[in-house]
Amino acid sequence: MGQAALPSGRTTYPDLIRLDGQTQVVLGAGQGIGREAARALSQAGATVVCVDVDSTRRAAVVRETDGIDIGADVTRRDDLRRVAREAKQATGRLDGVIDVVGRALWKPLLETDEDDVASQFQVSFGHAVPVLQELADAFTAGGAVTFVTSLAAHSGAPGAALYGAAKAGLVSLVRSAAVELGPAGVRVNAVSPGYTRTARSRPLPAAELARRVGRVPLRRVGTAADIAAALLYLQSGLAGFITGQVLVVDGGVSTRPTYE
Ligand SMILES: NC(=O)c1ccc[n+]([C@@H]2O[C@H](COP(=O)([O-])OP(=O)(O)OC[C@H]3O[C@@H](n4cnc5c(N)ncnc54)[C@H](O)[C@@H]3O)[C@@H](O)[C@H]2O)c1
Repeated sequence: MGQAALPSGRTTYPDLIRLDGQTQVVLGAGQGIGREAARALSQAGATVVCVDVDSTRRAAVVRETDGIDIGADVTRRDDLRRVAREAKQATGRLDGVIDVVGRALWKPLLETDEDDVASQFQVSFGHAVPVLQELADAFTAGGAVTFVTSLAAHSGAPGAALYGAAKAGLVSLVRSAAVELGPAGVRVNAVSPGYTRTARSRPLPAAELARRVGRVPLRRVGTAADIAAALLYLQSGLAGFITGQVLVVDGGVSTRPTYE
C-alpha cells in the first residue's frame, strides 16, 4: 500500500495512535476511568493536563503521567477557561479533551425532586456545553473531544431515570456538536461504558454480579482500561474520520435480545 493513502502524513497505522507533541486534557483525571485515560494518553506520547477537584487524587495521576496539575471544578465556566489558558501557557498548544465527569443518582423516579434534576443535569450533561465552548474552541489546530456517557443513556433501568436522561442529552449534544464543529477540524465523540469496575461503581451483591456477568457475551464486567482504550482510540489519528459517534464498550451486553 502506498504511504500517501495514510492520513496525517503518518507512515504506518500504529503511528496513528501516537499523540507525541500533543497536549491533551483529561477532566476528572483523579481516579477510575479518568485516571486510566490519562495513563493511556501519556503512554501514547501526549502531555496530559490532569484536571480534577480533588488535589490528592490529582497528585497521584500527575506523578504517574508526568502530567500537568490543574485543580478545577468542571461545572464552573471560569475554571474551564482557566484550564485552557494554563494548558496553553504551559505547553504552547491544546489538541484534545477527554471528559469523564459524571455521577449516577440511583433513586426511584417518583422519589426524585427538582434538586435531583438540577444536579444530575449539571454534573452529567450541563457542564459539557462550556467544555466545548471554552476548551474545544481554544484548540490550536482542530482536535478531538470525547465524552463518557453510559448504557443508561440508551435503555431504561430502575432508579436511573435522571442519570439516563442526562447522559442521553450528552449523546445528542455530541451529534450536533460534531456537525457544528467539524468544519473547524474538531471531532466530537462519546464512549458509553457498561458496568465497569471502579472505586465509584455501584457495589453489587455477589449473586447479582454473577447474574450480570452471565448475561455479558464476553463473560466479565468492564475495567477502566477497557474504557480508556476506546477513549485513546477516539482521540487518536486512527479515528481521524470519525465524529458524532457513540462507541458502546460493554462486552456486548446491550446486543442481547430483550425477550431472551
Ligand atoms: N463505573 C461505571 O460502571 C460506569 C458505567 C457507565 C458510565 N460511567 C461514567 O464514567 C464516568 C467516570 O466514572 P468513574 O467510575 O471512573 O467515576 P469516579 O467517580 O470514580 O471518578 C470521577 C472523577 O471526577 C472527579 N470529579 C467529580 N466531579 C468533578 C468536577 N465537578 N470537576 C472536576 N472533577 C470532578 C472526581 O474527583 C473523580 O476523581 C462517569 O461519567 C460515569 O457516569 C461509569
